[in-house]
Amino acid sequence: MKMWAGRFQKESDKALDAFNSSIEFDKRLYKEDITGSIAHATMLGEQNIISKEASLEIIEGLEKILEDIENGSLEISPDAEDIHMFVEQVLSERIGDNGKRLHTGRSRNDQVAVDIKLYLKRMVGEVKEELITLLETIHALASDHTMTVMPGYTHLQRAQPISFSHHLLAYAQMFMRDITRLTDAYNRADVMPLGSGALAGTTYPINRYRTAELLGFADVTKNSLDGVSDRDSLMEVTFCLSMIMSHLSRFSEEIILWSSHEFAFIELDDAFSTGSSIMPQKKNPDIPELIRGKTGRVYGDLTTLLVMMKSLPLAYNKDMQEDKEAFFDALDNTIACISIFTKLLATIKVNKDKMRAAASKGFINATDCADYLTKKNVPFRTAYKIVGTMVAYCSEKKIGFEDLSLDEYKEFSELFEEDVFTAISLDECVMRRDIVGGPGPGSQKTQLCELSEFIASAKK
Ligand code: ARG
Repeated sequence: MKMWAGRFQKESDKALDAFNSSIEFDKRLYKEDITGSIAHATMLGEQNIISKEASLEIIEGLEKILEDIENGSLEISPDAEDIHMFVEQVLSERIGDNGKRLHTGRSRNDQVAVDIKLYLKRMVGEVKEELITLLETIHALASDHTMTVMPGYTHLQRAQPISFSHHLLAYAQMFMRDITRLTDAYNRADVMPLGSGALAGTTYPINRYRTAELLGFADVTKNSLDGVSDRDSLMEVTFCLSMIMSHLSRFSEEIILWSSHEFAFIELDDAFSTGSSIMPQKKNPDIPELIRGKTGRVYGDLTTLLVMMKSLPLAYNKDMQEDKEAFFDALDNTIACISIFTKLLATIKVNKDKMRAAASKGFINATDCADYLTKKNVPFRTAYKIVGTMVAYCSEKKIGFEDLSLDEYKEFSELFEEDVFTAISLDECVMRRDIVGGPGPGSQKTQLCELSEFIASAKK
């Protein structure tokens, strides 16, 4: 029998039950639902809205339900309409009339809103933990490669030499921003909607601040219509997850490129690579490819939420039941991706020689060669032109700048001296780019230090 059966003359159609039900996916909110109800019942008792005995009996009953679900002795019934109905039904079956007092001054609309926020707050913590482990892994790897020279690219064409640590630490910047972005979204989500009722609050003298305190919310929502209608925090956090996936997918793409024979900058560990069913020589980067693929899926979840909320009138509409699957899917996949990517990154083998060899070709030191002349007071555009003709000359002869004699240099400009060879050496080119934010060793040290400090404060 339905909780709301009184108003109806007929049993609901089985097809409606199946279509309407959300228990299959909202059962994962059982802990938040029970915690929310315990806080509500505590407050109801304290305010004498229900008797102290009723409050205690409800709390004990709910604690037992939580224990039984967790130890497997109480199975969440697939026949219930949703997790909220299920918990309340079991409570009433177990303790009778007092169980029926739990829903005093509350609606499923503010109940589901508080449950999802409690869950969101817990999961934001988990995502951040995964990101911190990833940052620690990047820190460890980058520390080993502050002097490893590699080509930096634009348009995927060799551009200027950088250190491998610099490339890795660029991703650290993105993941640090992801963590602060999540903190930001968390803080905005940290207001409790319970007490909004169905839409118009309640006539009972409830104490919303007390319930918020019991549930660990920083504040309460300030408009009951907004309290039950608002799914901003879900969309915001799903955007944060999409952004994380965007960063992970770019990193994955580079891992895929770097592990190809054409680059061979890194080798993936056997434990994190896959083979081919037909080509015995293959070692495939399935993990980063799947991360790239799942990025689209998480963007899809964000689109689902945005479109689902678009143009909904206030306050609660059943459309909003659709928020959970998209949000849970985005969370599950993002957490799984960060976690496996971290393991993969921790085990890569770096081929320094290949990186250096790639940086030695392609006139990657052309800018430095031009800078050499500008330091001798040649205007940059003129120096640029001189080095351009040198590139054409060397390309024709299939040689690099290193292979030119000083006499040949002098044919392009009298200002070239013996020290040009050091000035355009790979290591010099990287070392001298040591401004704030540059790939040079001093900047690497600073970036690593700041990353350590960030990690330490994020762990608090
Ligand atoms: N299962 C519903 C949801 O997830 C709970 C809220 C139901 N409220 C209602 N008025 N039907 O959105």
